[in-house]
Amino acid sequence: MEKLINILKFSEEYLKKYSFSKPRLQAEKVVAYVLKLDRISLYAYFDRGLSEGEKVQVKNFLKEMARNRMDFEGILEKLENKNFQEIVSEKENHKKENLQLLSQSVDYIEKNGVENPKLEAEYIFSHVLKTNRLTLTLDFTRKITEEEKKLIKEIIIKRAKDKKPLQYIFGEEEFFGYKFKVDERVLIPRPETELLVEQCVSMMSDIKTPFILDIGVGSGAISITLAKEISEAKVLGVDISDGALEVANENKELNGARNVKFIKSDVFQNVNYKAFDMIVSNPPYIPEKEYSELMHEVKKYEPKLALTANDEGFYFYKLISREAVNYLKSGGVLAFEVGYNQAQRVKKMMEDNDFENIVIIKDYHQIERIVIGKKK
Ligand SMILES: C[S@@+](CC[C@H](N)C(=O)[O-])C[C@H]1O[C@@H](n2cnc3c(N)ncnc32)[C@H](O)[C@@H]1O
Repeated sequence: MEKLINILKFSEEYLKKYSFSKPRLQAEKVVAYVLKLDRISLYAYFDRGLSEGEKVQVKNFLKEMARNRMDFEGILEKLENKNFQEIVSEKENHKKENLQLLSQSVDYIEKNGVENPKLEAEYIFSHVLKTNRLTLTLDFTRKITEEEKKLIKEIIIKRAKDKKPLQYIFGEEEFFGYKFKVDERVLIPRPETELLVEQCVSMMSDIKTPFILDIGVGSGAISITLAKEISEAKVLGVDISDGALEVANENKELNGARNVKFIKSDVFQNVNYKAFDMIVSNPPYIPEKEYSELMHEVKKYEPKLALTANDEGFYFYKLISREAVNYLKSGGVLAFEVGYNQAQRVKKMMEDNDFENIVIIKDYHQIERIVIGKKK
């Protein structure tokens, strides 16, 4: 093994031959750099032997200096710059490749007739890459692994070919800022229903410990959100579907909501308490004869029990408006979400059943969506 002192000597001579100024200092810097030592401490290692690999590295460095007529610092800067350039161009390549993958995915989704293909593809990519949809392309400089590509492809096929809603594929949906587990046992909570919850929270703001009944809980979106938003409230949620009650209970755990309880009941059948401050319901409201006209993905994946109602869709509004007076305190609130074109008839039903101060609230699409009144 060649000793460090000899390599230093050799390097100094080499640089001298090429007329470098301060060849000893330059040689020390090269050797210290290759051996990852501090130049000042180099002399403590005079006897250290250099491996073949280390010797080659020193020689290559010296050759680079001679070829480029550059001192140690110049070559170092060049090397670092090169690494930096390589990193930059690698990132650019990833970005190009990822954008191409995204655009192919959008095309595929579009070809299969799914609405908003760009949005859908972005949701899929951001879900798999665990990032935010809005900053997705900013994160595109990283390599998408083969495993991630496989997952993206699987989800895209489920969405585009099978038309499965993304919420069921991902198994979750956000509602009022809370996360809800969803699967085919429950309706996917809709953004309009957040308006209903918002109204309910504001109607209960003056009551210290409001007792609330939610009829047809589904995923538990309304009950759990009310329980979280009104921490003093006691919420009872009922549903006729065992599957829905299972999901609602999982969501209760997931959101750590202690002040909500779920029971199985056909509307009021198993409800014993009779002095609620509020009854809220987003019941099934699609008329049977309109069911066939629903979007394919709704019919295929969402539970029919959560969607359709007899009496041209008014069955639950009629029943609940009639019975609610027996379960509410006087001044108690009845709040419904209603379907397109149903609000005026529901308002009339409530008036006919001793409710007053009835208001109708429109959703973001200017559709009359919520009907709220107070028991006289
Ligand atoms: C439109 S979904 C609403 C789900 C949830 N509240 C939401 O807003 O996302 C209606 C729910 O009512 C339930 N349901 C249907 N018939 C019922 C009945 N007779 N008694 C109680 N719940 C019923 C369904 O199982 C379904 O979960």
